Amino acid sequence: MTQTPPQPLRVVAVSGTLSSPSKTDALVDAVLDELALVLPIERHVIRVSELGPLFAGALTRDQLDERVERELRAVEGADLLIAASPVYRASFTGLFKHFFDFVEQYALVDVPVLLAATGGSERHALILEHSLRPLFGFFQALTLPLGVYAHASDFTDRRVTAPLLQERIRAAIARGLPLIRSSVDEKRRIERAVSGEVDGLDALPTPTAHDAAPVRLYS
Ligand SMILES: Cc1cc2nc3c(=O)[nH]c(=O)nc-3n(C[C@H](O)[C@H](O)[C@H](O)COP(=O)(O)O)c2cc1C
Repeated sequence: MTQTPPQPLRVVAVSGTLSSPSKTDALVDAVLDELALVLPIERHVIRVSELGPLFAGALTRDQLDERVERELRAVEGADLLIAASPVYRASFTGLFKHFFDFVEQYALVDVPVLLAATGGSERHALILEHSLRPLFGFFQALTLPLGVYAHASDFTDRRVTAPLLQERIRAAIARGLPLIRSSVDEKRRIERAVSGEVDGLDALPTPTAHDAAPVRLYS
């Protein structure tokens, strides 16, 4: 009997930057590249810098452009969400929040969310804990224990090059992997029960690449 190949994880990243090119976009790419080394993923990136003009003036979901509606559905159907924003005035960007204001209130319950941010200052890393984590706490999402924060000196030519940041990305994924696996496993089981399809999730690799050891937050 042939084995069903593991179904790739639907990973959706929302980058709240308003600029292009962008350090936040580069951070999102680095996280996705690292994830792809340890899990079969299908990646989809939503950039507020591109989408913003289509929803900035909308007040309710029924006023939204079709493309924005499609992107919201992608977020609501994600197996894993990467929520990333530059720090603007000590928080995420206004348009990042405006986008999530349209997301259905219970669509992210138990969905794993990896938090990421970039800032001009090394000292604004707690945006992850003060701004991003409470927002996804509201959604009852499963925010992963370690977030990733980067600042200007972590990048060269808009690519993540700082070894400590690369290590942090690997650690965030390693610490999150067991939670991602159990959440997706459960979701697939429900989907299988509904559709009668065979579940291939058991074939997902176990997190041996970067063993989940406790990580020092500060040096
Ligand atoms: C309007 C505005 C407000 C900002 N506020 C902060 C801030 O409060 N703290 C900080 O560390 N950086 C702040 N920055 C710097 C950006 O967070 C930083 O340059 C970020 O990496 C930009 O990401 P991007 O290249 O993806 O746009 C601000 C930048 C702008 C344009």
